[in-house]
Amino acid sequence: MTRQHLLIGHTLAFTGDPFHEPPEDAVRHESRGGVLIAKGRIRAVGPADMLHRAHPQAKIIDYGNALICAGFIDAHAHYPQTGIIASWGKRLIDWLNTYTFPEEMRFGDPAHAAAVARLYLDLVRAAGTTTVASFCTIHPESVDAFFAEAEARGQRVVAGRTCMDRNAPDGLCDTPQSAHDESAALIARWHGRGRLAYAITPRFSPTSSPAQLEALGALWAAHPDCLMQTHLAEQKEEVEWVGRLFPEARDYLDTYERYGLLGKGALFGHAIHLTARERARLHEAGASLIHCPTSNSFIGSGLFDMAGLMAEGQRIGLATDTGGGSSFSMLRTMAAAYEIAQLRGHALHPAQLMWLATQGSARALRMEHLIGNLAAGLEADLAVLDLASTPAIAQRAARAGNIWEALFPTIMMGDERAIRAVWINGRPAI
Ligand code: GUN
Ligand code: ZN
Repeated sequence: MTRQHLLIGHTLAFTGDPFHEPPEDAVRHESRGGVLIAKGRIRAVGPADMLHRAHPQAKIIDYGNALICAGFIDAHAHYPQTGIIASWGKRLIDWLNTYTFPEEMRFGDPAHAAAVARLYLDLVRAAGTTTVASFCTIHPESVDAFFAEAEARGQRVVAGRTCMDRNAPDGLCDTPQSAHDESAALIARWHGRGRLAYAITPRFSPTSSPAQLEALGALWAAHPDCLMQTHLAEQKEEVEWVGRLFPEARDYLDTYERYGLLGKGALFGHAIHLTARERARLHEAGASLIHCPTSNSFIGSGLFDMAGLMAEGQRIGLATDTGGGSSFSMLRTMAAAYEIAQLRGHALHPAQLMWLATQGSARALRMEHLIGNLAAGLEADLAVLDLASTPAIAQRAARAGNIWEALFPTIMMGDERAIRAVWINGRPAI
């Protein structure tokens, strides 16, 4: 008979969108809930006693007062930047030239790429993250290493070869043709294999010539079920530079749009300094905006307009942007999103923060039918949060009158110690 597991604890399952209805109405919380898992999928979610009666043969794993939720989904990261996270003192372009590009040069070595992929996936798993969308480097070896390691762990990940043919060191530059051909070969090798998905990945307009953007637009048109990931309007100086590099473009987004790189399945990291036209087109096209709050404050980029963009109905995910971001943890990232929203005059509800880190990112990756919630039929990627993981958190949570007050101290102050367990593809991974 198929092995079934019944996980018991507090459970949080989204039934709606907490940005478009009262947040607490969009979630079902059970204080003694159950999640029934078999063959890598969630089979049922509901009161634990009821599920136990219906499935007496299931092996029970009782997490007591811990909170079972969907595994976190980091919708924009750079695994090759693991070794340079928290590098001091630069803004975006200087930071890329000083720290990022020299480190990315090393990923032509398959042994280095494999070691960093392993370390990176260990670090994010320890933080409760089960899916990431990562940039790799220009080297196909860096993509092979990342997908191979994720596949061995049964993880659903998105990744792509980062393409650049200008404004980067020689050793990190390709051509329009080689970017197209090497990306195409990687799509053939990895896209749709098990839980792996490919994202066509021009780094950002300043490091791609119009010819390269055009070649990658053509590649996406030939493989429309791939995602496309890049950066957009992160810093004001960058936006101005794009204006000088593409004098014919209406704005930054247009440098992608005119080459076929805007559409459903396009993921735009940062998206801070947007014009009204860009916002309208992003929405119309069904593209995704990825909020990277620790990065935006660490590199000094600006304050993402979460409330305004959500009110427009934009599709928004949440991400660390490791190593421009200063943490591997989506708990820390939710805290930073809260702080940035406060600086813009809005307090995000804990249900909204949890939604962004799970459902929101799943929607951004167009994977909400697969991951990002506790619901029957979804893949069993789960995080189990200890809501009293340190003395400081425990004393605050002890005063909580409801689940949101109990959870918020862990969002704001929690780290890897709060990750009691992680399930990936229906198997315990920590
Ligand atoms: N823009 C282009 N490349 C990068 C990168 O690696 N990190 C960040 N934060 N922004 C970028
Ligand atoms: Zn990035």
